[in-house]
Amino acid sequence: MESRPRVLSGHRPTSALHLGNFEGTIREWVKLQADHECLFMIADWHALTTGYRQLAELPDLIFQVAVDWLAAGVDPARSTLFVQSHVKEHAELHLLLSMVTPWTWVYRNPTVAEMIDHLAAGESASYGLYGYPVLQAADILLYGAGVVPVGEDQVGHVEICRRIARRFNELYGEVFVEPVERLSDTPLLPGTDGRKMSKSLGNTIDLSDSPDVVTDKIAHMFTDPQKLRVGNPGRPEICPIFAWLKLYAPDRCGQIAAECRSGERDCREDKALLTELVLELLERMSDVRRRYQTEPDTVWDILREGERHARAIAAETIERVREVLHLALGPSGSSGVDS
Ligand code: TRP
Repeated sequence: MESRPRVLSGHRPTSALHLGNFEGTIREWVKLQADHECLFMIADWHALTTGYRQLAELPDLIFQVAVDWLAAGVDPARSTLFVQSHVKEHAELHLLLSMVTPWTWVYRNPTVAEMIDHLAAGESASYGLYGYPVLQAADILLYGAGVVPVGEDQVGHVEICRRIARRFNELYGEVFVEPVERLSDTPLLPGTDGRKMSKSLGNTIDLSDSPDVVTDKIAHMFTDPQKLRVGNPGRPEICPIFAWLKLYAPDRCGQIAAECRSGERDCREDKALLTELVLELLERMSDVRRRYQTEPDTVWDILREGERHARAIAAETIERVREVLHLALGPSGSSGVDS
C-alpha cells in the first residue's frame, strides 16, 4: 500500500517549456519525487479551453512536453506521467462537480477573467473556458492529491478546488482531500525583454533551444536601458540579466552589482556569464532529451503506462463518488449487487 503523500500537477501542452516553467515548477517536482507519490499530467483538454482552432499540432506538443519533463529530471521509474484525455474519469468528475459548483465561483473567478482578457482578438470565451477551474479541480480531486506544486498564477485554481471539495464533502460526506498548493522559492523570473517570461509574450528561453539560439537570445536581452556603454552606471535591481544571475551565480552577484553600479562593468560580461550558465544547465538535460527524441515509442509507452496507473486510482474515486450521489446502483439493488 502506497503511503507517501500524493502529489498532482500538470501543464497545458500549448508550447515548449521554458526556463521560467523549469524554475517555477519543474525543479520542485523533481525534488518532490524523492518522498512523494507524484502524478504529472499533460492537460490536453485544458488546452482546448483557449485554443480550439488549431489542433493538428496537439500530438506533437504533448510529445514535446513529455520530453521536456523527462529531460528536466522527471523520472518515469518513480513518477506517473499521463495525458488527461486518456483518463475519461476526468470528464465524468468534471461534469459531476459542475453540478455542485455555484455559478458565481466561476463567473467571478479572477483567474478565469484574466484568461478571458488574454483571448485573441475576436475570440469569444467558451462555456468550457468558464469551466476551466472545475476541470482542474476534477484533475486534483480524482487522485486525492494533498499537494499541488504550481506557479503563483495557479493559486486561485487550487483555492477554488479546495472550496469545491469542501462543498461536496459537506453535501455528500467526506470523499475528497482538500489540497494545498506548493510554491517554489524561486521568485518570478523575467523573460528576455524584462517582462514575466511567457510564451504569449515571445520572450522565452526554451529548454529545447539549441546553444546558438540561447546565445543569440541572451545577447539580445534587455539590461538597464540607461546603461548604454561601459562607464554608464547601471541599476542591477531592474536588470533582467542580473535577476537570473542572482539565481545561477549567487556568490558572484555582490561583486557584479558593485561593478555595474560604478559603471566599470560591461553588460556583455554579464550576458556571457549567463549564457555559459544556462548552456551548462541545458547541456545536462541534453543526453536524456536526445535519447527520448530518437525513441518516440518509449515516450508514448511511458504515457500509456502512466495512464494505466492513473486510471486505476481515478476509477476507485469515481466509484465512491457515484456511490455517494446514488448513481451507482439501480433502485433497491436492481444491479444484483445485493438482494
Ligand atoms: N492550469 C495548469 C496550467 O495552465 C494546468 C493544469 C491542469 C493543472 N490541471 C491541473 C495544474 C491540476 C495543477 C493541477 O499550467
